[in-house]
Amino acid sequence: MMARILVTGSADGLGQLSAKSLADQGHQVVLHARNSERGRYAKQKVPGAEHVISGDLSDIDETKNVAYEANALGRFDAVIHNAGVYRAPPEQIFMVNTIAPYILTCLISKPKRLIYLSSSMHLHGRANLENLKKDIRRISYSDSKLHVLMLSMAVARKWSDVYSNAVDPGWVPTRMGGYGAPDDLQKGYETQTWLAVSNDSRAKVSGRYFHHLTERLYNPQASDVMLQERFLSLCRDITGIPFPQ
Ligand SMILES: NC(=O)c1ccc[n+]([C@@H]2O[C@H](COP(=O)([O-])OP(=O)(O)OC[C@H]3O[C@@H](n4cnc5c(N)ncnc54)[C@H](OP(=O)(O)O)[C@@H]3O)[C@@H](O)[C@H]2O)c1
Repeated sequence: MMARILVTGSADGLGQLSAKSLADQGHQVVLHARNSERGRYAKQKVPGAEHVISGDLSDIDETKNVAYEANALGRFDAVIHNAGVYRAPPEQIFMVNTIAPYILTCLISKPKRLIYLSSSMHLHGRANLENLKKDIRRISYSDSKLHVLMLSMAVARKWSDVYSNAVDPGWVPTRMGGYGAPDDLQKGYETQTWLAVSNDSRAKVSGRYFHHLTERLYNPQASDVMLQERFLSLCRDITGIPFPQ
């Protein structure tokens, strides 16, 4: 059965490759890029896509607007929260990697499946919530990838009618990964697209962390319910948006 999927950050890298793969399989794909120029580039790269939404995910208002535009297009079967930054100032890492997926999850009409791009680097991350409240500049990329894993597991716990999972794509040769990255590029996007559309019973699960189609051990802070709740309330304080129950 054909599905409708939104992929954030699909102008380049794994987002573009996931979107292209899904469109090539005949699914209806909506792209997302930081601005209209990058949006046009995304559409050129994935001509089979249905539509492109623009909005800079380092900006709270623009991110809210991405959610409103997505809702105006109708309901999605799946959303892949892929956009991310690595070499960027800490404030930007926090907004794009942690806060934007939170806002989009809260505001986009609940799809059937949610997929969040984490990283094996989350294993070295710290939830670091107290410091974060005092000083966002202390956040690292690894912390942000732990946050998004916490978010995916919190969503799985709260929304029993949704499959919410996270993916470590491996260290792959995108602009972020660098050309010398050792892992397979195709394997770097297959798990996301599989979780988004497959009817395989192994893909219809929730609250799991995958690498190359298999479940992996994760930082136990991610599934700590007390920590998840504190994380969600911090996101609520920063954005003014409560997590919908
Ligand atoms: N590559 C790896 O080895 C690796 C490993 C582990 C996890 N990951 C994760 O996988 C995901 C995809 O990474 P990638 O390797 O494909 O990175 P990439 O090639 O740098 O692509 C990142 C995408 O996110 C978009 N983006 C960044 N900041 C944005 C913003 N403020 N607003 C809107 N869009 C924004 C980029 O848009 P522009 O092109 O316009 O900048 C681009 O389309 C990320 O979440 C990353 O953390 C990657």
